[in-house]
Amino acid sequence: MSKLNIALVGAGRRGAGSHLSVIAKLKDVYNLVAICDIDEEAATRAAQKYGANPYTNVRDLVEHEELDVVDITVPGVAHHAIACFMADAGVHILCETPIAMTLPTSDMIIERAKANNVKLEIAENYYRAPRERFLSKVIEAGVIGDVARIYRIFHEGGYHGMSMLRLRAGGEPKSALGITQSTPVIPIIDQMKRNHTNERWSLGFIEFDNNATAIMIYSNVIHARSLGRGQTGISQIDGSKGTIVGEDIYVTPESDLQSGAKGIAHRAKRSTIDVNGVDVIEKIELELPDQTVTWENPLKHYPLPERQIAVADELLSIATAVLNDTEPEYGAARARQDQEMNIAMSESGKRSRETLLFPLTELTETERAANEKYQRQYGHPIEDVEAGIDTFFPRH
Ligand SMILES: NC(=O)c1ccc[n+]([C@@H]2O[C@H](COP(=O)([O-])OP(=O)(O)OC[C@H]3O[C@@H](n4cnc5c(N)ncnc54)[C@H](O)[C@@H]3O)[C@@H](O)[C@H]2O)c1
Repeated sequence: MSKLNIALVGAGRRGAGSHLSVIAKLKDVYNLVAICDIDEEAATRAAQKYGANPYTNVRDLVEHEELDVVDITVPGVAHHAIACFMADAGVHILCETPIAMTLPTSDMIIERAKANNVKLEIAENYYRAPRERFLSKVIEAGVIGDVARIYRIFHEGGYHGMSMLRLRAGGEPKSALGITQSTPVIPIIDQMKRNHTNERWSLGFIEFDNNATAIMIYSNVIHARSLGRGQTGISQIDGSKGTIVGEDIYVTPESDLQSGAKGIAHRAKRSTIDVNGVDVIEKIELELPDQTVTWENPLKHYPLPERQIAVADELLSIATAVLNDTEPEYGAARARQDQEMNIAMSESGKRSRETLLFPLTELTETERAANEKYQRQYGHPIEDVEAGIDTFFPRH
């Protein structure tokens, strides 16, 4: 494989942390050539640490570097501005989640990428975690039969949650009902350094075209695991012949189906190998009386602990797409759909719990409010890419 020149834009908490340390481990695929951050100190600090050139502006970055791929880790409100600019510069894109704040700004990125013939991958990471990849295999192998209902309660929400619900349902979303509530909390700063003064709570009920349904309960304070919220989450997937509850996979022996039909819990075994002193997951295997389901780590030759595998996976997804001229695994259309489902849930809450049908065809009040907030905060319309790339977007 020939190596790709990559730059990272947005050397913040997340960017500087997980993405850069993983890029440094994918040396056979990537040359990290530059790190760009509008905050000069952040750019210099990260560039020194990773031996790359610092930039404070994407215009200078593309003028001075020969880039194949850009990894965009600026705050979500800035994704469309930086991504459209990089697409116009002919650079392939890996963009952090969400794809963008609204559907029109998501479409701007998708259109610019298409017009410039650049690959676009969104760094949706939840389904790429080994545990979730393994559970996908369990469901695909028919262990619990056809999925009927999914409960994800007190786990991640928003677009990440929607991504998981859709993946587990195995169908296209038909409708969304949302119940939302906002209540004050004392001012707090969470472990990711995010400020919270109120709790934005939501309950979503999604129907899929294959008759599966999903329920999600989420709030920003639950997500932050602050004030004691979200200590125990419920993740349950009900199938026609079994259930996945957290890590336990329940199946009922044939002989008990007519006499109680109690499910018996099975747990997968994980095996690890040592790669350069790092405990690397080799495989996750479930042995059932009549079948064995195995997920093997395709990245097991890299010294990646389990928490870094999803990020490596998304970085390799865009690299493979660029090198083989194929489509990235997740892609922008799915990421847009995650945001569409997320917006629909919030919009339904705003419209006194009206059930909304997919696809959304008009600009929602939720998006209009996001546009207005953007204009108020940054002094230019959200579509103004040129103004956006020169704006400092602080973390909220
Ligand atoms: N997938 C996940 O699980 C996950 C988790 C955390 C964060 N994220 C995403 O990662 C992204 C970054 O999050 P973070 O926590 O690192 O944010 P952050 O605010 O800590 O860092 C963002 C960086 O972008 C820089 N920046 C702002 N405006 C800029 C501009 N115009 N040009 C260049 N740089 C600019 C800031 O100076 C800052 O250093 C967000 O999109 C967030 O949604 C995803």
